[in-house]
Amino acid sequence: MSEVRKPVIVVHGGAGFWNPERSQQGMEGVENAAKTGFGILKRGGSALDSVIEAVAIMEDEGAFNAGYGSSLNIAKRVEMEASIMDGKTLQAGAVGLLKDIKNPVRLARIVMEKTDHVFVVGEGAEKLAEMFNLKRREPTTDLRLKYYERQRKVLLEGKSKLPKLAGIIRNHPDLFGFETVGAVALDKEENVAAATSTGGLSLKLPGRIGDSPLIGCGTYADNQVGSCSATGVGEIAVRLVLAKTVCNSMGNRKSAQEAVEFAIDLVNRRIPDAYNSMGLIAVDVYGGVGAAHNSRNLCWTYITPETQEPVTSLTAKILK
Ligand code: GLY
Repeated sequence: MSEVRKPVIVVHGGAGFWNPERSQQGMEGVENAAKTGFGILKRGGSALDSVIEAVAIMEDEGAFNAGYGSSLNIAKRVEMEASIMDGKTLQAGAVGLLKDIKNPVRLARIVMEKTDHVFVVGEGAEKLAEMFNLKRREPTTDLRLKYYERQRKVLLEGKSKLPKLAGIIRNHPDLFGFETVGAVALDKEENVAAATSTGGLSLKLPGRIGDSPLIGCGTYADNQVGSCSATGVGEIAVRLVLAKTVCNSMGNRKSAQEAVEFAIDLVNRRIPDAYNSMGLIAVDVYGGVGAAHNSRNLCWTYITPETQEPVTSLTAKILK
C-alpha cells in the first residue's frame, strides 16, 4: 500500500467558458479559498471545516456563480443552493431555493448538524437561517444583471416562452460560464469531505433544483474512497449521479484522476448531446488529486504537502 499524501485540498470555481474579464479574479478566488482551506488542514483542522471555509470564501468573492454574484433565473431572481458531506460519518446537509443567505454552505452545515434532515429548501431553509442568525446579503451583482440581459436576449431570439436552454447553451457557449464552486479535502486524520455551492443555471425556471445540493450528484464524500464535487449543467450530473459515480470508481481501485476521467468519459458516451459543460474535482484517500472536464475551461487549484502553494489553472484534463 502506498503512503498517504496529506493533507490535500482541491478547489474549483466552475466549468464552462471563463470570460477573460473575470478569469484573473476567478483564479485568485480559488487560490484564496484553497489557501484558507489548506491552512485549516495544516493546523490539524478537519476536512469538513476546510471545505466549508474554502467554499464560503468563494461565495463572498463576487467572481463566481455562488453566494454574492449568483446567476439569475428566468424571473430575474436568485435561487441559491449548496451541500456538504462528511466522509467520516456519511452525514450530509443541503439547502436550496435561497434568496439572500450570504453563505448557503453554512446553512447546509446547520441542516447537517442541527436537524434530523439532509435537504431543506425555500421558506423552511430561510426560517432555519433566521433561527441560527445567519448573515444575509443581496446576491445580485451588476455583472450578473448584464449577463442576464444578454442571455435573455438570445433566449427570446429563439422565440421560446420556456427556457429550453440546451440549444442556446450549445450555440452560445461563451454566454454560459457555469461557475459553480466546490472543494474537496483530505485531512491529517485521513478524513475526506466535499462541499459545493451555486446560483444554478442562468435563466433556469423558478423552483428548479440542480445537482449541487443533491448528495451523490454534485457532492459526495466517503472515507473509504475519497470525495468529489461537480460543476456544469446540473441535469447531466443528476442523471448520471456523477459525484457518487466518481466515488464508486475510486472504490474500484481507480485514483482520483482516473475516476474523474472515467466519469467525464461516461458523460461523453452516455449523454453525447451534453453540450460540453461538465467539470469534476476529486481527492482519493491516498491524497491523489483529480480534475477533468469536457468544457472549455475549469477554474481550479490544489495544494498538497509537496506544493505548499496553490497550483492553479483554467484547464485540467479535457476529454471530448
Ligand atoms: N451545477 C449547477 C447547476 O446546474 O445548478
